[in-house]
Amino acid sequence: MQKRDELYAGKAKSVYFTDDDSKLILHYRNDTSAFDGEKIEQLDRKGEVNNKFSAFIMQKLEEAGVPTHHEGVISAEESVVKKLDMFPIECVVRNIAAGSICKRLGVEEGISLNPPTFEFFLKNDELHDPMINEYHIRSFGWADDVAVEKMKELTFKVNEVLTQLFRDADMLLVDYKLEFGRYRGEILLGDEFTPDGCRLWDVETRKKLDKDRFRQGLGGVVEAYEEVARRLGVDLS
Ligand code: ADP
Ligand code: TMP
Ligand code: ASP
Repeated sequence: MQKRDELYAGKAKSVYFTDDDSKLILHYRNDTSAFDGEKIEQLDRKGEVNNKFSAFIMQKLEEAGVPTHHEGVISAEESVVKKLDMFPIECVVRNIAAGSICKRLGVEEGISLNPPTFEFFLKNDELHDPMINEYHIRSFGWADDVAVEKMKELTFKVNEVLTQLFRDADMLLVDYKLEFGRYRGEILLGDEFTPDGCRLWDVETRKKLDKDRFRQGLGGVVEAYEEVARRLGVDLS
């Protein structure tokens, strides 16, 4: 597969056209961003760890019946994916209260959410990804009702699969963000699943093993991602 012009440079990944107009190359860079791009640093090895991590998770999800854009890893920091028409929406499931929900609702970090809660956010850094609801999505035409239902169904299916996968490796899946897009009429999971876009805690100590280490200046960010990968059996060689 031939890499062509850059389509988009995001905060953590660059996206390239290829000689196949239905495929893109995602390049996972070492850039690490928080607070909608306010804090940005380069962290050695992060691009490679996240590329291999996301490929591993996408394969697990495919095996469990969640359709994804993932096609294959082509280099340490690059993967080929199906080119999706992305919805400008982020789907977040929370199993345990942490992050923005604690501020917004004045609840303590660490409270179990039973049943898990679901939130939509608009993907817009300038507006700091505001929380939106299904009426906003409908009124502004960001996705149709069928797509909204499908995104919710798939996001909860991902929760079933990954809560267990992480639990088996002694971790709690606290929350996560997913992005979806359309490919030849079908809704597929796009973007990435890595510790950049989810919260993971050690089940015993509740040590944070995700991007909160970067947001909160705790250090050992990539080391924590590598620890998660090692526990899951992701091949980082
Ligand atoms: P951001 O745009 O939030 O800064 P990234 O740096 O991760 O995020 O950039 C990757 C971009 O590529 C995101 O905007 C994401 O929506 C988009 N994207 C991810 N997967 C696909 C895909 N399969 N097809 C088209 N666009 C995609
Ligand atoms: P939040 O607590 O900041 O709302 O985030 C919830 C989860 O979603 C957390 O795991 C981080 C992830 N997330 C992103 O990766 N990118 C985003 O833009 C947002 C809003 C959340
Ligand atoms: N994903 C957003 C960013 O990269 C928000 C965050 O992670 O804090 O800035």
